[in-house]
Amino acid sequence: MSKVKKCLFPAAGYGTRFLPATKSVPKEMLPVMDKPLIHYGVEEAIDAGLDEINIILGRGKSAIEDYFDKNYELETELQAKPKKLKLLNPINDLIERGTFTFRRQGAMLGLGDAINKAQSMIGDEPFGVVLADDVCETGSEDGVMKQMVEVYEKYQCSVVAIMEVPNEKTESYGVIAGTEEESGVYRVSEMVEKPKPEDAPTNLAIIGRYILSPDVFEILDRTEAGAGGEIQITDALKELAKDGKVVAYKFKGERFDCGSVDGYMDAMNHFYTKLKNS
Ligand code: UTP
Repeated sequence: MSKVKKCLFPAAGYGTRFLPATKSVPKEMLPVMDKPLIHYGVEEAIDAGLDEINIILGRGKSAIEDYFDKNYELETELQAKPKKLKLLNPINDLIERGTFTFRRQGAMLGLGDAINKAQSMIGDEPFGVVLADDVCETGSEDGVMKQMVEVYEKYQCSVVAIMEVPNEKTESYGVIAGTEEESGVYRVSEMVEKPKPEDAPTNLAIIGRYILSPDVFEILDRTEAGAGGEIQITDALKELAKDGKVVAYKFKGERFDCGSVDGYMDAMNHFYTKLKNS
């Protein structure tokens, strides 16, 4: 059985919902409290044992590369101020625990294309995918990626994380239908990208966490642009689902959609309150 060791972070998107901030700052580098969004996702992946981190970048995203590299000049400057130097511990800890590889997407043709661009970095093994703008809080439970690795190990096929959303919100998500194999785990029979509420088969929406088997690449190679004119990962997964090769997992925890201003503010309030009460 292949162990999941690699995690992919597609981070090439323009982040248009946060313009003008994202004109020159990558969305993934917007802070929630004292850490950028992508820090939370990378920490979740490494805590799940996925310590080979692969990040897909676009133009203007080099701040992400710099974040996952040591800043010796800053550290030298702060040598005489140990309290301030300590503030770098969380990121230096991640840098030590993981390995980091970067690749550019080129043209932003959609999430499916960004994932397909990682083929040479991933090779022939299962891999996690984290969309860094979905920040998940699981309290005393394992992180979402760790929960998903357990599901992958049991079912040995691609896994998508899902949550229930209000019926009127289905148009913002990929939505699944399937049969419940055990509490919270569904064998997926149908997937629809951004359906209108009246067309949605359920209110079980896919969030930004996946474990994919490498057979997805061969499908992505021939997947054409779908909803929104973009190459959609959901369209490729649909094909795997036809053969019963996708399960959906209702994760334990809370997800903040930090790609939207409302979700970002909710995350900020949540983590601020948590810090104040700690
Ligand atoms: P989004 O749909 O959230 O797009 O992409 P976006 O560009 O990040 O943000 P908005 O909607 O314009 O505000 C979902 C994920 O897929 C990545 C994004 O970086 C994000 O993590 N992505 C999307 C790519 O890496 N490449 C693409 O071509 C499209």
